[in-house]
Amino acid sequence: MIQFPTNFFIGASTAAHQVEGNNIYSDYWLMENLKKSMFAEPSGDAVNHYKLYREDIAMMVDFGLNAYRFSIEWARIEPEEGEFNDEAINHYRDVLLTCKKNNITPLVTLHHFTSPKWLIRLGGWESEQTPDYFARYCAHVMKELGELIPYVCTINEANIAIGITRMMKQNSASAAQVGVNPEMLAHMQAYQAELGEAFGMNPKEIHTFLAPRTEQGMSVIFQAHVAARTAIKQISPDTRIGITMSLHDLQSIPGGEKLAAQELHEEFLQFLPYLQEDDFFGLQNYTREVYGPEGVVPAASEVEKTQMGYEYYPQGLESVIRSVYKHLNKPIIVTENGVATEDDHRRVEFIDQALKGVHACISDGIPVYGYMHWSLLDNFEWQLGYSKHFGLVAVDRSQQLRIPKPSAYHLGKYTKLINSENFEGGL
Ligand code: BGC
Repeated sequence: MIQFPTNFFIGASTAAHQVEGNNIYSDYWLMENLKKSMFAEPSGDAVNHYKLYREDIAMMVDFGLNAYRFSIEWARIEPEEGEFNDEAINHYRDVLLTCKKNNITPLVTLHHFTSPKWLIRLGGWESEQTPDYFARYCAHVMKELGELIPYVCTINEANIAIGITRMMKQNSASAAQVGVNPEMLAHMQAYQAELGEAFGMNPKEIHTFLAPRTEQGMSVIFQAHVAARTAIKQISPDTRIGITMSLHDLQSIPGGEKLAAQELHEEFLQFLPYLQEDDFFGLQNYTREVYGPEGVVPAASEVEKTQMGYEYYPQGLESVIRSVYKHLNKPIIVTENGVATEDDHRRVEFIDQALKGVHACISDGIPVYGYMHWSLLDNFEWQLGYSKHFGLVAVDRSQQLRIPKPSAYHLGKYTKLINSENFEGGL
């Protein structure tokens, strides 16, 4: 087994909405519970992490992990515009204190896809007011909890709408060519009508985070990051601040080089000006994308796929770390990397391969400060519901029972092999 430097973080990630349960003031809760919902199932009690966080953190200690990335839910902290909830603050204070007591370093994310319903009613992620609202919420959290938060990620996968916008365009182009299944069309229309009614808005004006975005909307997201960073730096100068982005390992076959380069620009390079004052970069990678002259070349049918339908490709992490460092030249924390599979041996192999890549980067002098595996628990995979299993720990939701998989202990073993000789960890 390879060794990692002192203070290297080896941990797991979760996101509030996917694990806590009953996030009733959020936009997602509303969308999941519509009669014509586009979700496979609602999040409901999720895996009850809001109540079971102490046990879950104790479990991480037992595995040998030394860091935990989780998110604070804006809709719990500020359920109505300008009204801040003390009970929620106290809850997250206790999560942070529990980490501290257990020598688990917390990495906190302030926005992981879900937003308060009121924000969407005020224009959501296309509105120029949103950066101010976001910064005000972040300032509140940091004023209350900042001294317990060494690392903060403002926004999770700030670039994700780039891919969503493209996918929606492709879908409507192919629908125009082949026509849409009438049943699906009727469902979509009924959904839109119900959604509009539930928000009391014209459905076209509803701009949640995981939705197609205009260029203006993309800049709203990154301005929100900058506004939050400025606020956090003032209130909690010792907290290290970053953002996270989802990045594919972009590869090309002859003739696809230009498209791959264009994709790198769209996914990542165009946002670099917003990141210059950050302390670290939160890198998230799940697979690769190979470009040919006509665009993305689908993986061959015999290639192993994850439950998500994309290629099993843990080698991608190393290339993405190298590419990010080349262009951004800042410390990196891998804030998500993982695989949805029923076969935990393949998860163990995924972890080994991914960490081998991280280690090679560190050996070449790239400052990678941690690896947070997605995810601690099998959880609510958004529209796909609970059927996809990314967790180091399975959950029997009928009793909210935790069933650790061998991969959890396997990941934990890496912390025991940390090499104190040759590296000054931490930022
Ligand atoms: C997101 C997670 C999600 C994971 C697996 C990332 O894009 O941050 O919320 O569950 O990927 O699909």
